[in-house]
Amino acid sequence: MKIILLGYMASGKSTIGKQLAATLLIPFVDLDNYIEECEGKSIKKIFEEEGEIYFRNKEHEYLKELLNKNEDFVLSLGGGTPCYAGNIDVINSYTNVISVYLRANIGTLVNRLELDRVNRPLVASLTNEQLTEYIAKHLFERQFYYNQAKNVITIDSKSMEDIVDEINSLLS
Ligand code: S3P
Repeated sequence: MKIILLGYMASGKSTIGKQLAATLLIPFVDLDNYIEECEGKSIKKIFEEEGEIYFRNKEHEYLKELLNKNEDFVLSLGGGTPCYAGNIDVINSYTNVISVYLRANIGTLVNRLELDRVNRPLVASLTNEQLTEYIAKHLFERQFYYNQAKNVITIDSKSMEDIVDEINSLLS
């Protein structure tokens, strides 16, 4: 079984994914880190040197590579992964994949991204004032894809342990 976590930037996909994998005793894979290792450069550098279209093509390619592995793992996607190249349909076409959307409200995402956006090329250059409007619009566009996940968990004001327990209860 593969468990896929998806959601907007800073919704906790990697943090939750690591903890979930540890409780399930299966490996954790972060798609962004996987891309960085395979490409030999950071996401920031890939955006700067090759552009977003190149990144989206690679993201699609490496996602399929991981899905085709005959291994169990928890996989955290990048915030945009489900929204490009038919990736959400690819994910949903696998019967051994459980997808979970970690849904956060705009306020939660703004608070988190205000503190942690330097390595996220799409928001790195925005001011705090611009961030709220950007996220509101962007999340509205992306929700269509995120909501196609097989499971949705609201994460605002929940502890990491509660979220991990909630995902675990989906699995039993
Ligand atoms: C992106 C999110 C990032 C990373 C890239 C693009 C996006 O991942 O894949 O910067 O389009 O939302 P995180 O969600 O882990 O920040």
